[in-house]
Amino acid sequence: MLCVRAGRAFMVLFDRCIIQVFHAAALFALIHSCRGQSEVIGPLQPVVALIGDDIILPCNLDPVMDAFGLAVEWARPDLDPRFVLLSRHGVDLESKKHPSYTSRTSLFTDELKNGNISLKISKVKLSDEGTYRCFVPELDRYTTVQLVVGAASSSAAWINSTISSSRVVLQCESAGWYPEPELLWLDGEGNLLSAGPTETLRGPDDLYTVSSRVTVEKRHSNNITCRVQQRNTNQSRETHIHVPDDFFIVISPPSNQTNDPNIIAVVIGALVVLILILAVSFVVWKKRRAKCNSMCPFLLSKVNIYHCIVSV
Ligand SMILES: *[C@@H]1O[C@H](CO)[C@@H](O)[C@H](O)[C@H]1NC(C)=O
Ligand SMILES: *[C@@H]1O[C@H](CO)[C@@H](O)[C@H](O)[C@H]1NC(C)=O
Ligand SMILES: *[C@@H]1O[C@H](CO)[C@@H](O)[C@H](O)[C@H]1NC(C)=O
Ligand SMILES: *[C@@H]1O[C@H](CO)[C@@H](O)[C@H](O)[C@H]1NC(C)=O
Repeated sequence: MLCVRAGRAFMVLFDRCIIQVFHAAALFALIHSCRGQSEVIGPLQPVVALIGDDIILPCNLDPVMDAFGLAVEWARPDLDPRFVLLSRHGVDLESKKHPSYTSRTSLFTDELKNGNISLKISKVKLSDEGTYRCFVPELDRYTTVQLVVGAASSSAAWINSTISSSRVVLQCESAGWYPEPELLWLDGEGNLLSAGPTETLRGPDDLYTVSSRVTVEKRHSNNITCRVQQRNTNQSRETHIHVPDDFFIVISPPSNQTNDPNIIAVVIGALVVLILILAVSFVVWKKRRAKCNSMCPFLLSKVNIYHCIVSV
């Protein structure tokens, strides 16, 4: 009796053991077959987005494999909770997401069958910048995707002031940039103009405002460009400012006025020379007349005195 019970217990134990071994073997085979099948592939370059954009973080199974039945986890290891999106069999587990991604992330349900498990993020925020992990637990495979978030905005340029007859100060300002941009001034031929230091302010929204002033001379041609650019996000905005020619002329004294002293000097000089010549001629004439009078006191006619003066 006791022997029979022991025998039964042993059989049950044996059955369980067989089942477990079978399960383990099946799981092992499954994992290994999956490992041989597909990899999780992301982009090589960071994804660059501007604030407010809707963007896609690419992630694909390669070779293509239907991902509809698989779990997909998009996460940011630096967050707690770390999930940006959690999908099981095509169902989005919204409650498991980090609150800042609520209702902003999704997969492309129609694309899952093509192994496309790319993440869509709507209305990108500055705080979305970071490293994302696209993970498929059944394949035990993941890839990382870098997201760079930027902000860019147009600039305004105007004439700040006039400092002399041929120089004006221009000012350019641009608000709403991220990361910090650089500001350049260019003349009509595209040459860099040297300007004062760029003033940078960072607002409570973490966005930067830059402004700069440049002194422009008339010779620089009057089509000046203010360019604000950010290399990481490949963003650039330009404003052209046309300084009217008459802007310089209005504030300049008329150009012939500067020559006037010279003309006066020339005229005075000529007059002095003329007066000197006349004075010398008069003295010579006077002397000759006196000489003729002494030489020919008997000749009274004016004509003869004249001939005498010319011939002496
Ligand atoms: C994945 O799906 C998205 C949305 O339809 C698409 O933009 C993207 O090109 C797809 N990726 C691939 C590799 O087909
Ligand atoms: C010109 O620049 C000065 C700073 O140097 C600033 O205080 C002033 O408001 C500017 N004026 C205009 C018209 O932009
Ligand atoms: C000024 O120069 C820029 C290029 O530097 C050009 O695109 C723009 O048309 C020019 N504007 C005028 C009024 O000449
Ligand atoms: C940067 O932008 C310009 C035009 O906006 C484009 O031609 C160029 O390919 C872009 N470069 C990169 C690296 O994205």
